[in-house]
This record gives sequence, structure tokens and C-alpha cells, in this order.
Amino acid sequence: MASSRQMPVAWPFRWLFLLAFRGAWGSDYNIVNLDNASFPLVVGQSFPVLVRFDREYPYGEKAEAFKAMAKVLAKAESQVLVASIGVSTFGEKQNQDMARKFNFIPKEKEELQSEDMEKIFPKFMYFKPGDSDGQLYNGAATKAGFLKFLDVVEKTCDVLTGAFCSTEEKQHAEYFQGKSLQELQADLATFAKKSKETLKKGERQLVDGRLKILKKLIKAMKKGGKETQKQL
Ligand SMILES: *[C@@H]1O[C@H](CO)[C@@H](O)[C@H](O)[C@H]1NC(C)=O
Repeated sequence: MASSRQMPVAWPFRWLFLLAFRGAWGSDYNIVNLDNASFPLVVGQSFPVLVRFDREYPYGEKAEAFKAMAKVLAKAESQVLVASIGVSTFGEKQNQDMARKFNFIPKEKEELQSEDMEKIFPKFMYFKPGDSDGQLYNGAATKAGFLKFLDVVEKTCDVLTGAFCSTEEKQHAEYFQGKSLQELQADLATFAKKSKETLKKGERQLVDGRLKILKKLIKAMKKGGKETQKQL
């Protein structure tokens, strides 16, 4: 690895290359796991980094919010790299040194014990390009909170053009293609009624998926003064 580290910093994605081979990409989409060796390769470079310090296998609402935010960033082609530092209190006692470095271990403590973990973590730090000291993120640990802080607007499905829609969302939109606003409003009544019934799992997914897109369609058409749904 020594020679790789001497590669010019100007190659902005060199860390991606390196980390891919270190198995640093965890199972969470667009979140890279860092440790004391990979941290300086990623943080303080030419792009901003949002780092979570947490238990090795984070769970719960904040973990879900962090994951959701990382997904949005990937879609938005954001410059911000999302990273996670997993601290463990047993076995190899991973990343206790990183927790110490960023002052997450109380001074009087030698190391973190399992009962400390939930009290202390998760913590989030933001590192501007070229900065490896970082700033503590004090905002809400919610998807909306993170996105606002990073100034990223989530691109959601545009039912009229099909932009940023998933395959499933597109299929629902296509189902209603060519219908007039009046017809859609009739459909809305039908689907709303159907949704209230007891449905099998697959049917439930279909009906609720259709309903969601239908509501969006009606709203978009009213807003745009459109009479019929155009071709996707
Ligand atoms: C870096 O982390 C590894 C694994 O947790 C540890 O064994 C090593 O001592 C750490 N290095 C430094 C310089 O703290």
C-alpha cells in the first residue's frame, strides 16, 4: 500500500480504488467504512466528507436516517462522501483510537465499554475539503436534517416526465397514461376504496403503489393546468 499512498492527491477517486480492495465498502449503499489507516486517504482531500462514529453494527432510527441520506446523495450525484467509523468494545476493539482522537472518550476513561456506546454514539462530523479536524454536526439525526445541512435536495419521482422515478413508479404512471383529469379522479375514488379493503400482500402493494402515483399525478396535473397525462 505504501506506493499507492504516494499517488498524486489530484487523482480524486484514488481512494475509491483503494478502498474497494480493502473491503471498506460495507453492506450499506454509498457508505464507506473507515479506520485509522483509510481515514487520512479520504478525509482532508478535495471533497467533503460526512462521518458517522457509531457502534460497529449501528441500528435504530438514526442509523436508518443515515442510510436513507446516503442513498439520496448517491442519486443526487453529490460530491459529499458518506463514511462510517465503527467502534467496538470487544474482540479487536476496533477504532477506539479514532473515538479517542475525536474526543468521544471521556478523558478519565482508558477505553469505551459496551455500556458507554449507546450514551455516546452515534456522533456525526463534517469535514470540509482539505480539513481533517472536522466539525461536530449538531443538527437532527434525520434524513431531512442531514440533507438540509449538506444542502442537497432529494430528487423525487416526477410523475409527468418519469424523471427520477423507479421502474415500479414508472409502471404505475404508465397504467394511468392518456387519462383525463376527470378519469383520474374517478380512478382515485376506486383505488382509495380498494385500499381500505383487506388485500393479499401482492395486491396491497399494487393498489397502494397505484394510489400513491395517482395522487401525485392529479396534483401535478392540477398544478400544471394539464387535462390529460402525456406520454412518459
Ligand atoms: C489502528 O487500528 C488498528 C486496528 O484497530 C490498531 O491495531 C492500531 O494500533 C491502530 N494504529 C494506531 C496508530 O493507533
